[in-house]
Amino acid sequence: MPEKKASDFRYSTGETKVPWDAVGENYNTSDILEVIRFLVKGEGDIYESLISDIGKKVDELFTDGAAPGKLSLGDKVSELEDKVDAFLHASGSTFITNATAGFEIAYRYANLKEGDEVIIPAITFIATMSYPLALGAKVVLGDVDPRTINLDPRDVERKITGRTKMIVPVHIGGWPVDMDPLMDIAGKHDILVLEDAAHAFGAVYKGRMAGTIGDFGSYSFHEVKNITSFGEGGIITSRLPFSEDLKKARFLGLDVSKQIKNWLYDVVALKGKYAHFAANNSSATEIQAIGLMNQLSRVHKIIEERRKNAEYLTGRFSKNDAIIPQLLDTDDIQSTYHLYLLQIDPEKAGGDIQLLKKKLGDKGITNIPHFAPLYKFRIMKDLGYDTAEIEKTCPNAEKVFSTRFTHLPVYGLSSEQIEYMADSVLESVEEMQKGK
Ligand SMILES: Cc1ncc(COP(=O)(O)O)c(C=O)c1O
Repeated sequence: MPEKKASDFRYSTGETKVPWDAVGENYNTSDILEVIRFLVKGEGDIYESLISDIGKKVDELFTDGAAPGKLSLGDKVSELEDKVDAFLHASGSTFITNATAGFEIAYRYANLKEGDEVIIPAITFIATMSYPLALGAKVVLGDVDPRTINLDPRDVERKITGRTKMIVPVHIGGWPVDMDPLMDIAGKHDILVLEDAAHAFGAVYKGRMAGTIGDFGSYSFHEVKNITSFGEGGIITSRLPFSEDLKKARFLGLDVSKQIKNWLYDVVALKGKYAHFAANNSSATEIQAIGLMNQLSRVHKIIEERRKNAEYLTGRFSKNDAIIPQLLDTDDIQSTYHLYLLQIDPEKAGGDIQLLKKKLGDKGITNIPHFAPLYKFRIMKDLGYDTAEIEKTCPNAEKVFSTRFTHLPVYGLSSEQIEYMADSVLESVEEMQKGK
């Protein structure tokens, strides 16, 4: 393993009379106050007076302390990565701009080319397939397991061809994909597995952390995820020996793990599975790392609150057999409960999910815009995919999307709100059953 030290690239030149820091503007009191104003919004005389007091205190702090100088890929990023390694029982976890940047690193490692095939679940966010589409690789949509809406390994097996280079399972809503059969299939055909673990930081599949089971896993810390690094962020991890190179892949192939002398930093050509490849720059900042580290310290509590709310909803919904509630944790599976998967049986409910969503909307229950099957997006048609044919190969995705599922929020709600949401779902389904 390379020495796990933060880079001194660009800044810390040690004791000098004219420091390198002088070439970049650093943070001052006014910058800091603007961030505080943004993070704790308010208005009025009392608010302004408190901000002014804080400004005076920050000025005082500057007489005793100093601005950091190094703002990107420094000690805080390294500290975060060590903590994430411990959390995931992994090594080489690398903090990047977002999960999508991590997907690109994995796709590049696989040396994905025009004409190669990638199997992706029919239901996911566009980010999962953007890189293969941009490259002219062929995206093959795998059907979903209707109970979890996760990629169904049996359909993956049916859709593998001699050109399949990667399989990309997505742990939708934080519920882990059935990884064992998927890894067996991938192993049999020597295909790389990239886990889209955007929703699954902290999920467990048979004792292993979701995102660390495939060859690569990429997590998202975008503002709508269970924890965030001030709005954007991602972690890429790999169980391959390549994990040692993830930090170079993050930053143009530069090896910044060692002291740099005379600008002769080392730039390496990273060796992927099939070829050497150039890397991108998806570096994240010290401030983002501080934000994520702090939230990481309470991630178990956050998931616990989500789990309790999911248990409450599932308990309430068991009263009506037209409702198919979110599955709950078992000995083998622990979800992050990023989203609560609510499904109905349209025959028993006397109507489909579109009607239920409308009724919930009328009752003031937020409708998270739920994931549509990717073949419904115009981009696929524009790129020449026969979307009508693809739809026929994904019957479960079509059925669950148009008639059965939606997602409910399960975090940051008061007990009155969660109770009201449960009442509203039950009342709405009962109304549907009465033909109202
Ligand atoms: C399933 C899924 N995959 C990937 C992403 C992309 O994550 P990021 O915004 O960190 O690139 C998201 C983001 O919402 C997502 O929901």
